[in-house]
Amino acid sequence: MQAIIICLDYSFLHTLFIITPLLLTSFFLLLTPFLQWWHHHSHKKLPPGSMGWPYLGETLKLYTENPNSFFSNRQKRYGDIFKTNILGCPCVMISSPEAARIVLVSEAHLFKPTYPPSKEKLIGPEAVFFQQGAYHSMLKRLVQASFLPSTIKHSVSQVDQIVTKMVPTWANTTINTLQEMKKYAFEVAAISAFGEIKEVEMEEIRELYRCLENGYNSYPLHLPGTAYWHAMKARKHLNESIRRIIERRKESSESGGGLLGVLLEARSEKKKKKKKKMMYELSDSQVSDNLIGVIFAAHDTTASALTWVLKYLHDNTNLLEAVTKEQEGIKNKLAIENRGLSWDDTRQMPFTTRVIQETLRSASILSFTFREAVTDVELEGYTIPKGWKVLPLFRSIHHSAHFFPHPDKFDPSRFEVPPRPNTYMPFGNGVHSCPGSELAKLELLVLLHHLTISYRWKVVGDEDGIQYGPFPVPKHGLPVKIIPRNKIFT
Ligand code: HEM
Repeated sequence: MQAIIICLDYSFLHTLFIITPLLLTSFFLLLTPFLQWWHHHSHKKLPPGSMGWPYLGETLKLYTENPNSFFSNRQKRYGDIFKTNILGCPCVMISSPEAARIVLVSEAHLFKPTYPPSKEKLIGPEAVFFQQGAYHSMLKRLVQASFLPSTIKHSVSQVDQIVTKMVPTWANTTINTLQEMKKYAFEVAAISAFGEIKEVEMEEIRELYRCLENGYNSYPLHLPGTAYWHAMKARKHLNESIRRIIERRKESSESGGGLLGVLLEARSEKKKKKKKKMMYELSDSQVSDNLIGVIFAAHDTTASALTWVLKYLHDNTNLLEAVTKEQEGIKNKLAIENRGLSWDDTRQMPFTTRVIQETLRSASILSFTFREAVTDVELEGYTIPKGWKVLPLFRSIHHSAHFFPHPDKFDPSRFEVPPRPNTYMPFGNGVHSCPGSELAKLELLVLLHHLTISYRWKVVGDEDGIQYGPFPVPKHGLPVKIIPRNKIFT
């Protein structure tokens, strides 16, 4: 028995002797990454702010509070840079123009664009927004080429035709402004993307696109029957439709107009000259992703801005009359010269242009954008750890009384002097800034030209309130009754 005990004791001691170092080694091995992380981060000063509950973070607060108050309350409490946690993602929100410039412009290579994978799949993962570095620069050059003033100046008559066909159909009816503006913005975006296109093909693309958009704004559950599932199917069909258009252009050896023409031209140039500079030959799916991406970026954003400008002019009759006066001057000139609206005319609308600038500031269609730190980054004395999301808050900057006195007042005259650098970013800033800004402004100018000289509109029902879907717009999409200008509302 004693022998057994001694034996047990001995084997126990032996086990202890062998196992303990092993256990300790494993423990330290497991602990090492944590210790390294802790050592690394304990020396870094994270921005102030609350990370809220585990995983949920402050998500519920963001979605239940008005987003403007969510941002401004934290800005008041913590300053221009603060941390939070949205849907399990640690985020740093930024509302100082200098810090936003660092993220978007001067140190843009340290912050990559980031979107939820479900949205990326729907738009097309090879679209320009999701890229960085050389591939992004190459794509951006091509996209930008299609939307430079020197290119879009030739589209003024097409945009004008869309408006002159659409606006009279609104007379003496009540329209949902947002829905009508979406139709207008879609037509312009599709023409800019495809150039000439058969009406049957356009109708097919319109229908598929509608389905895509429904899914984009729904919960991304990829199960048969869900809006997301239908949208993914529509996305596949869109690829096929675009491939057929590409094939036809290849057969006729005509690249055609629009962004599609530019993208096809770029790849045939590459083949012809075996250019080394052109780093990538765009595949059909890359072309497709970028066409759909551009229509996507051009559509809801511009429709929201168009809806807001009608709301602001409705609420400020003195401004509406001043815009009308300016547009009547242009109309008289066109009548004398017996011609339609041209690009140069749109450059002679200073008052209307300021109304548009103020609309874009006040409505701040993109309230913020997302980036992700690709490495630990030092920003204004704080560390943003690798992988954290960074959100420059355009809306907070546009609504800061420091840069825009009485920010809640709709006052176009503030743009009689240029805003301070990096304080006005309705179209973003830096490498990913909007290539469609001139087209969007052109759409606003052309619509205001025709609408103000011939019509008046009155909001039906609730006049105030905002809805988000996905961009902020007046409540219920701003239902308005439209009548000819020489009539009075009954
Ligand atoms: C009023 C209307 C519009 C607004 C407010 C707007 C706003 C913006 C903003 C803020 C960005 C930068 C996003 C970021 O930095 O993450 C952006 C990017 C972009 N916009 Fe627009 N946009 C409008 C209209 C258009 C139009 C008409 C087009 C059509 C060409 C367009 C195409 C794009 C594209 C392709 C990008 C991505 C650029 C890149 O990643 O390099 N946008 N837009």
